[in-house]
Amino acid sequence: MAFPDSRPRRLRASPALRTLVRETELSPKDFVLPLFIRPGRGEKRPISSMPGHFQFSVDTAVKAAGEAVKLGVPAVILFGIPDRKDAKASGAYAADGIVQKAARAMKDKYPDLLLISDLCFCEYTDHGHCGIVKDGKVLNDPTLELAAKTAVSQAKAGFDIVAPSGMMDGQVGMMRKALDAAGFSDTPILAYAAKYASGFYGPFREAAESPPSFGDRSGYQMDPANFLEAMREVQLDVDEGADMLMVKPALPYLDVLKAVKTRFGLPTSAYQVSGEFAMIKAAAAKGWIDEKRVALESLTCIKRAGADFILTYYALEAARWLA
Ligand code: PBG
Repeated sequence: MAFPDSRPRRLRASPALRTLVRETELSPKDFVLPLFIRPGRGEKRPISSMPGHFQFSVDTAVKAAGEAVKLGVPAVILFGIPDRKDAKASGAYAADGIVQKAARAMKDKYPDLLLISDLCFCEYTDHGHCGIVKDGKVLNDPTLELAAKTAVSQAKAGFDIVAPSGMMDGQVGMMRKALDAAGFSDTPILAYAAKYASGFYGPFREAAESPPSFGDRSGYQMDPANFLEAMREVQLDVDEGADMLMVKPALPYLDVLKAVKTRFGLPTSAYQVSGEFAMIKAAAAKGWIDEKRVALESLTCIKRAGADFILTYYALEAARWLA
């Protein structure tokens, strides 16, 4: 049917009509709040490139988690800034490691809040790479041993979901085996399945104090130019037992997100990363865009493209706007 019989504007004529036919509805239930945890007490150090975000100590992080609970945000993902970094990333799998401590304290206070662990080593190694380094190279298989240990350590600390983000080959399978052997066969794995080597992670590296001291992450994270490679990466994670998938970053990779959701059919998330957040904040601070409108539009589009949930630094603000 063509014009004039078909007039799509008919369904846009009033707010009520638009509400009736809207295909995608955002809700605080869609969000996961990232939190950065550092040692100490009473700490709340602003992250300059991420306005409204802080490096918290465990006690203040628990308060931030409480804010999420109050607003109906169902989950947080924790990143640790350990007091000491070394070549073996010991802080990542220490029983009293920084995110392990935070997880125990949060579980204690908010047992129903879902705790997700970002399982990676760049925050814990003295060179800032996501694995064991030898002769300037990140070694895959020795890093898997650490990933297995870290997954078990995080599950023991009370994390509900472990999310490997190191982009090592075989990490999902290795972690699944280790979790099962340790009695955590019910702990789901959220795989950072399609994670790109992205310039949009810039502000995060300030937040987590984790920039690589040499080179970059292109030897393990994916080339932004590639789509088919993402499909192969995701297939491997699915075959190795991933329960949920993630695409990261979000907005520049909606084609990948859409394909991952439709091809694999698993619960799929997207990470609206630090640079995506910082760009909206910065442009809004200059008065060049309407922050609330652009942030909610971005999140709506990420959901429309196929995200069942979104890791976003806007989690609390967006939940308030939607309330
Ligand atoms: C850990 C990790 C990073 C991010 C999430 N997990 C940094 C990186 O890969 O360099 C980035 C998230 C963000 O930018 O918000 N490897």
